[in-house]
Amino acid sequence: MSDARPAEPVEITDETWASLREAAIAALPHAYVPYSKFPVGVAALVDDGRLIWGCNVENASYGLTLCAECALVSTLHMTGGGKLVAFTCVDGDGNALMPCGRCRQLLFEHSAEGMLLQTVSGVKTIDEVIPDAFGPRTLAAYREAHD
Ligand code: THU
Repeated sequence: MSDARPAEPVEITDETWASLREAAIAALPHAYVPYSKFPVGVAALVDDGRLIWGCNVENASYGLTLCAECALVSTLHMTGGGKLVAFTCVDGDGNALMPCGRCRQLLFEHSAEGMLLQTVSGVKTIDEVIPDAFGPRTLAAYREAHD
């Protein structure tokens, strides 16, 4: 594990999106989806250049289902931390899928400023998909005002 971060921001090109899509599709066969039969694969680029991915893992107690983004965020922390700079989510046919509301919140928490997402309506920033988000800065600002 390393704390090293690049001096330069990671560049996001068409090749980046192609690699993310490929990794998200490669994650699909690992999905555990006996209930919904709806596999989801995700992949992201981290600010140090790492590429990480994940799939959804369901549960007989449906509400305990782990979206693919949960696996991704766990892997982010397990493999050195950092912030997400680019993200892709696909369904079982490899089509772009919008992350659910809870997962947008999850991604926001770990996003680099200006993080990009490949969506059903093109590339968008994290702020566009979860505007005026509640997050760590909300809590910090409140704490600061009340200390
Ligand atoms: N799912 C994800 O993994 N991520 C999302 O952003 C949307 C929904 C999963 C949860 C469940 O296993 C299946 O898709 C059907 O809802």
